[in-house]
Amino acid sequence: MMRIGIVGCGHIGMVHGAALERLVDGGLVDARVTATFDTDPARAAALAVPHGATPATTLDALLDAVDVVWICTWTAAHADAVEAAADRGLPIFCEKPLAPDLAASERVAAALRRVPHQVGLVLAYAPVFRTAAGLVRSGRFGRVLTTILRDDQYFPIQGMYGSSWRGDVAKAGGGTFIEHSIHDVALLAAILGDPVDVSARTSSQFGHEGIEDQALVTLGYADGTTATIASVWHQILSRGSSRRLEIFCERAMLWTEDDYLGPLHVETDDGVELFEAEAPPWIDRFAGLAEFAKPIAQYAEPSKAFLDALAADGPAARGWPDVDAALAAHLVVDAAYRSASGGGTPIPLRSRGPSAE
Ligand SMILES: NC(=O)c1ccc[n+]([C@@H]2O[C@H](COP(=O)([O-])OP(=O)(O)OC[C@H]3O[C@@H](n4cnc5c(N)ncnc54)[C@H](O)[C@@H]3O)[C@@H](O)[C@H]2O)c1
Repeated sequence: MMRIGIVGCGHIGMVHGAALERLVDGGLVDARVTATFDTDPARAAALAVPHGATPATTLDALLDAVDVVWICTWTAAHADAVEAAADRGLPIFCEKPLAPDLAASERVAAALRRVPHQVGLVLAYAPVFRTAAGLVRSGRFGRVLTTILRDDQYFPIQGMYGSSWRGDVAKAGGGTFIEHSIHDVALLAAILGDPVDVSARTSSQFGHEGIEDQALVTLGYADGTTATIASVWHQILSRGSSRRLEIFCERAMLWTEDDYLGPLHVETDDGVELFEAEAPPWIDRFAGLAEFAKPIAQYAEPSKAFLDALAADGPAARGWPDVDAALAAHLVVDAAYRSASGGGTPIPLRSRGPSAE
């Protein structure tokens, strides 16, 4: 049995904990959360309870007692925990963003490369986007002309997030674009490939220095086409985090407003076809309320994939998405911020070589 440690026991630590608990209780992985650590001991103690785990009093104590670690601290604290775990040769699931800026992200990536690892860019597993990527890449609708991705969320220092670090640039690195839309950047790379340049305008309306609450980012591709990400943190607390994706191909328009199962709407001259995916059948084994099974599956599926890879390949395992996908997204985020600080001038992106897929 693999002993799992969770470092950082806030919002996403609890979400991963809940997903792992269901995988364990459903007999879907040979693993268990056995240790938790947070600089706030009450959080480590609270997360330990449902797993019957031991709250560790130091990071070293946790790392000494586990076989694999989930790093779920706020962004600026990923580096120290990742480096300490990599020094011990432990496999690491690291949350996104890797770090607040590109240079620090490259250091985190260098440590992750030394061990089996996976990055929490969970949209890579969403069936709706995998279907969209497959359809677009098949070429059956002709070339992609333009793509529009709107990502909106209430300013996440309130409500269910219950934590203030996303208003602190030293801990978060920036606002809505790095913190939330890094998912969107990785998603568009999976569908459209790597952009060749990026231009951006950002604005901060809510008084948190260095934390943009709006970003309008245009990605340019080698064939001259573009994609746009509109990313916004608003104050509508009743509105859940949501995404709307529209892809205009020569002979089809694909769109969805659900970032997990869809449906994906595909409009062509023949009419509108709907593609709706099923959650993995094994969520039937999840304990608890059925209404939570699908939201938890979004996190359980990547975690199961990582644990399955570790069980199959041990130290040779490589999770997905990996540091290559994460660093490619960080390059875009960094260029977008540089463009925005220069008034929106396009910034060329350096190539990351052959696709990491
Ligand atoms: N993949 C996703 O869908 C997703 C969703 C939400 C958050 N995230 C990412 O997860 C990370 C955490 O976000 P969150 O919403 O859980 O924040 P949070 O504030 O709810 O939790 C962060 C926790 O880290 C703890 N912490 C800080 N420094 C630490 C250290 N050095 N050692 C141990 N614990 C430490 C804090 O005390 C806090 O409990 C961020 O990087 C965020 O971007 C990813």
